[in-house]
Amino acid sequence: MSSGAIFQIQSSLIVGIFLFGFYHRKNRKLHIPSMVTAIVWDILLVLQIELMRGAIDKAMKVQVNSSLMNFHVSVAVLTVFLYFFMGRTGYLLKKNKIEPKKIHRFAGYLTIACRLSTYITSFFIVK
Ligand code: HEM
Repeated sequence: MSSGAIFQIQSSLIVGIFLFGFYHRKNRKLHIPSMVTAIVWDILLVLQIELMRGAIDKAMKVQVNSSLMNFHVSVAVLTVFLYFFMGRTGYLLKKNKIEPKKIHRFAGYLTIACRLSTYITSFFIVK
């Protein structure tokens, strides 16, 4: 099996866990462990891709579909920043240190939209 296929399988499982955790967003016992697992695994996946293929190097050299690749890489980077924000606001919500859930909810919808965009575009840029 190629390393690309292994990355795509992991990515699909991660998106599945995110959707599961998102569906159970009102149930803290299911929501928190699924989101933490998906975030940690996704960051490990980025590191694997980076270490094994030099993703950034590859992205810089790509000629075909370069605007799609630029979009994909930008949204993927934004997603990782959002993960830290989600982790922080989620932790504060859990500790009841912040009351309004609006900020975590708004950023949560944005994070899911970004992760799905990264996932969908990945199928069009993988050779
Ligand atoms: C990308 C990751 C995450 C996404 C997309 C996400 C999304 C959401 C959404 C949409 C809600 C519902 C808010 C509402 O309707 O009022 C929610 C609730 C919540 N989230 Fe997250 N979340 C993420 C990660 C986390 C993490 C890492 C933690 C904890 C460390 C966390 C803790 C919570 C808590 C405590 C609630 C309130 C549940 C309740 O009592 O209603 N979330 N999240």
